[in-house]
Amino acid sequence: MTDKYVLFGNPVAHSMSPALHAYFAKETHQDLEYGRILVDEGCFKQCADEFFKNGGLGCNITVPCKLDAFSYADTLTEYAKAAGAVNTLKKMPDGSILGDNTDGRGLVYDLKRLGCPLKDAHVLIIGAGGAAKGILKPIIESGVKKLTIVNRTVSKALDLAIAYPGTVDGTSYENLSGTYDVIINATSLSLKNELPNIDDSILSKAVFVYDLMYRPDGHTCFTDKAASLGVKAYDGFGMLVGQAILSFELWRNVKPDFDNAIKQFR
Ligand code: ATR
Repeated sequence: MTDKYVLFGNPVAHSMSPALHAYFAKETHQDLEYGRILVDEGCFKQCADEFFKNGGLGCNITVPCKLDAFSYADTLTEYAKAAGAVNTLKKMPDGSILGDNTDGRGLVYDLKRLGCPLKDAHVLIIGAGGAAKGILKPIIESGVKKLTIVNRTVSKALDLAIAYPGTVDGTSYENLSGTYDVIINATSLSLKNELPNIDDSILSKAVFVYDLMYRPDGHTCFTDKAASLGVKAYDGFGMLVGQAILSFELWRNVKPDFDNAIKQFR
């Protein structure tokens, strides 16, 4: 029987994950199929139970089911715990279900591919929602000097910073000053073609800008803005591919080639 993997979420029709994993399977000569399951509200546990009971070996989880998957897992990796959310489940040899989160490591994997200077950098993360929470631990582990979170609702930035005393602080847009070497947009603003309230003087001093959102043409309004100020700027397409590679590796113990996948799908 072919090994079975799926994507759970709502919606799932637009997702690139099935195409990515089919490509990885071919490239690494793995015999598996990867489907998608639309989860009705409140039905994640039922869907996941059925999937694993029928021989499913692993799944990815997208919105709005990442918290349900977090509760569903029997054990959690340190990354899932830090993110408070799960994007990857794996059935272990003893039948238990492991929950991981590969989003933040996928981002750092892409930042390294792009030559982003993270070591000893002062990093600014814009936004303090689930997306921001999911990337903090891997960014800190990459050796940054300091990480500042700026958010419209300052209390949410401060709440995230509490988990990493000494390295992370939270602030308001009005209080931003000085130089941030790397600036990462973790808000949902680019989806609406809107810019966060960051002065050009701050943005232009950065050496590297990244938007977690991605678009088919590789530009968001935020990356366009940074590029217009002469700053290297990238959208989040590579993060999408990176997190998929790391899920695949967790399931299959083999790592597809990152650059080839980017060339294939960009
Ligand atoms: P996700 O889980 O995808 O991160 P979220 O929890 O809704 O989504 O968070 C979205 C982020 O975008 C938040 O940081 C949000 O700021 P608030 O916490 O103040 O709501 C930010 N965001 C959304 N719309 C915004 C806007 N118009 N101006 C500034 N920040 C905005």
